[in-house]
Amino acid sequence: MIRIGIIACGVGLTVATGAAALSAQDKSVTAGVYTAAQADRGETAFRSTCASCHAPNRFTDDLFYTSFAGKPLWEMFDVISDTMPEDNPGSLKPQEYADVIAYLLKLNNFPAGQDELPPTKETLSAIRMEKPQR
Ligand code: HEC
Repeated sequence: MIRIGIIACGVGLTVATGAAALSAQDKSVTAGVYTAAQADRGETAFRSTCASCHAPNRFTDDLFYTSFAGKPLWEMFDVISDTMPEDNPGSLKPQEYADVIAYLLKLNNFPAGQDELPPTKETLSAIRMEKPQR
């Protein structure tokens, strides 16, 4: 039963990251879209609410980029805040989900900047997730 649930969940997540159009004024995660302090908070939240199931390298692998690269950051926020942690979806505050995503951006070597990543659809829809250059 549990095994089936997990497989179904993985398929659902992939399908859920559907098309949301980016426009010409959009900026990318390379532009410094979170702060260092926010990523530190996100790391703490990650350790207590995500690390029991995910190693950090789950968020720097090709599966992760297939799901989210080239798409608005809102899609990542939407998927994570709707479905994770899998044993208690939606249990974090919106700000905490934004903090965790800031940490995921840091893991991907995207630079920190002056402004925090807000948990708002409008702003997150205008930031494009990318696959980092290594
Ligand atoms: C109880 C276990 C569990 C916890 C806790 C958990 N996850 Fe997951 N998560 C899963 C499973 C299972 C999958 C589907 C298999 C996979 O993609 O690794 C998944 C998938 C994902 C994906 C991939 C979505 C995709 O489409 O590629 C992301 C991103 C994610 N989790 C983020 C998080 C974050 C962030 C947290 C903490 C807030 C978290 N998870 C906590 C079990 C968990």
